[in-house]
Amino acid sequence: MIENIRLNLQRVIDESYDILIGYGLLENIPLDLKRNPLGNKYAIITDSNLKDLYGEKLLERFREENLNACLIDVPAGEESKSLDTVGYLVGKLLENNLDRKSAVIALGGGVVGDLSGFTASIFMRGIPYIQVPTTLLAQVDSSIGGKTAVDTIEGKNLIGAFYQPKKVYIDPSLLKTLPKREFISGLAEVIKYGVIYDRKFFEYLEKNINEIKRLNEEKLLHIIRTSCIIKKSVVEEDPRDENKRAILNYGHTPAHALERLSGYKCLHGEAVSVGMRISGWIAVRKGFWSLDEWERQNRLIESFGLPLEMDFEIEEFIKALYYDKKVEGGTLMFVFPKCIGEMASINGKYKIPVSEKELRIFLRELVNN
Ligand code: GLY
Repeated sequence: MIENIRLNLQRVIDESYDILIGYGLLENIPLDLKRNPLGNKYAIITDSNLKDLYGEKLLERFREENLNACLIDVPAGEESKSLDTVGYLVGKLLENNLDRKSAVIALGGGVVGDLSGFTASIFMRGIPYIQVPTTLLAQVDSSIGGKTAVDTIEGKNLIGAFYQPKKVYIDPSLLKTLPKREFISGLAEVIKYGVIYDRKFFEYLEKNINEIKRLNEEKLLHIIRTSCIIKKSVVEEDPRDENKRAILNYGHTPAHALERLSGYKCLHGEAVSVGMRISGWIAVRKGFWSLDEWERQNRLIESFGLPLEMDFEIEEFIKALYYDKKVEGGTLMFVFPKCIGEMASINGKYKIPVSEKELRIFLRELVNN
């Protein structure tokens, strides 16, 4: 006889959080946390470049507000996104007496955000964390939506968790110290939002290229706010990346392969730009998208000073594509625009299979163009 004891765990969970955006917000974070506490102690995790630039000052502001806080830094760069660094951080959190009621503050770009979020998700089975993104890419994309991860030697983001932050503080004035190349790289994700979701926003970008490149405050605020609104709308619809959220990965299937082939020397946004040209071309050739709009997308990418091409060998590129998390049952999956502002779907599914045979033909056309 078999006994069946059912453990019922149906729960309604509210993981809502606020994304605050404003110039000069950084120094007001401690005051806001004093009024709306998220922990009994805060560990600010940052990287070696940002420690002196913003970390120490933020720590001082916490102390001025009589909040219990410490500052921990990791070496700047993708190499820190590892399980080894997670182990190091857990040690530091314990050394600084953080407990289950404490919170982590991720002060940095995508690497610090993903790494700190993942560490928070496992420390004492999960403590709250707060995102304070310092790069354009992190402000418009990685700090929102709760994807946390570290890399392994096999690939990027292969170990991770969906773990939403409790709050996101975006201070666009931090972008003034960001190297120009990194700022431009972040614009690739901004263009992506226009293509996948919002035609008017795409047109806005076309009209304001020079002011955005010059970091005009009003324009910058507009592009960050709009990107955040688009990202939050998609995440609200599909928080666990089961269908619609894949549209946020437009251009990313080829981009991840290009990053891999470059030994992660190119910046993420640069690879995404080239990736949007490649995915867009496949969309045109498979009949989802018009040639005119593909060319229009490419013109915008180019006007921002982003690359449209990178050298690669087709067979090696195809092999590298298989490391993408969108691969399903050994089949390569892409997401495609239908028109600027809307993505294509087949029977309600946004991830669309592409065979290797088709891919070879389309890639050869692109390389020979
Ligand atoms: N960056 C893609 C996502 O958050 O789903």
